[in-house]
Amino acid sequence: MLVVASSNGRVGIGEAVRVLAAGGSALDAVEAGIQPVELDPADHSVGVGGLPNMLGQVELDASIMDGRTRAAGAVGALQGYAHPISVARKVMEALPHVFLVGDGAARFAADMGFPQQELLTAAARDAWERRLRQPASDAEPGLQRYYDAMRRLHERVKTAVDPTVPNETVNFLALDAGGHLATGVSTSGWAWKYPGRLGDSPVIGAGNYADDRYGAAACTGRGELAIRACTAFATVMHMRAGLAPDDACAAALQDVLALDDQYAGPFNIVALDPTGRPGAASNRPDSTYIAMAPGQSEPVTCPRLYVH
Ligand code: GLY
Repeated sequence: MLVVASSNGRVGIGEAVRVLAAGGSALDAVEAGIQPVELDPADHSVGVGGLPNMLGQVELDASIMDGRTRAAGAVGALQGYAHPISVARKVMEALPHVFLVGDGAARFAADMGFPQQELLTAAARDAWERRLRQPASDAEPGLQRYYDAMRRLHERVKTAVDPTVPNETVNFLALDAGGHLATGVSTSGWAWKYPGRLGDSPVIGAGNYADDRYGAAACTGRGELAIRACTAFATVMHMRAGLAPDDACAAALQDVLALDDQYAGPFNIVALDPTGRPGAASNRPDSTYIAMAPGQSEPVTCPRLYVH
């Protein structure tokens, strides 16, 4: 039994391991591990406190996949609900669908009894106002520029990118006592994104994939690249072909880094094979992930293979 997560999963990994130790499934563990991250207002890349889109709306994406059956559920651009990972799981379990977005996802969350919640914290709102309302020059009043820019969102989105704001996300992967794998991913996506933009996190095969036969993988970083390269699926297919998890992540990451992309930033993959071997790769040196098994009191911090 093992849980691995992106480093920002530290607030939830203990809960995920407790679920496994009590006989819970890998699916239960990844959901339980992600929920505390979604509630942490200090994490500005996931759930409550996530940085909003260009209009100041927090739009959340999440997905969950059961490696036992390859069943999957996902929600995208969900507003007003703190636990997109749990709504995604409900999509998987209660609907003949895999993926709901926007108003339909919110309607479904309400139908399923999830409580509505304000997701935009004061800190996230301040950061949005500072970024989107800054004047272009001393001669141009900030507020006027803001109103002008809001009429031309498609132009403004290109300059709103802030390289100091990491395109983070939380990944959880678990292997349970029955030998089953599951993966969960949750994010508020690219800070200051165009309204309605979806990244890789809710796209099965891009940011999330699990298959008991070969392994599981998940991504953080610029989701547009993971969508173009089908990165989580590719990582699992590299394990299918016999690569160790570290090498599978590195091979999939090399394919991502071959893409032409002017916005490319940090990109990370984490994987877990059916025997419980974890692995990870990053295009940043010193990037880490965490792993924890029942019986351990603290997660272990592990280096990701550096690929450049
Ligand atoms: N990887 C998260 C996103 O691009 O939205």
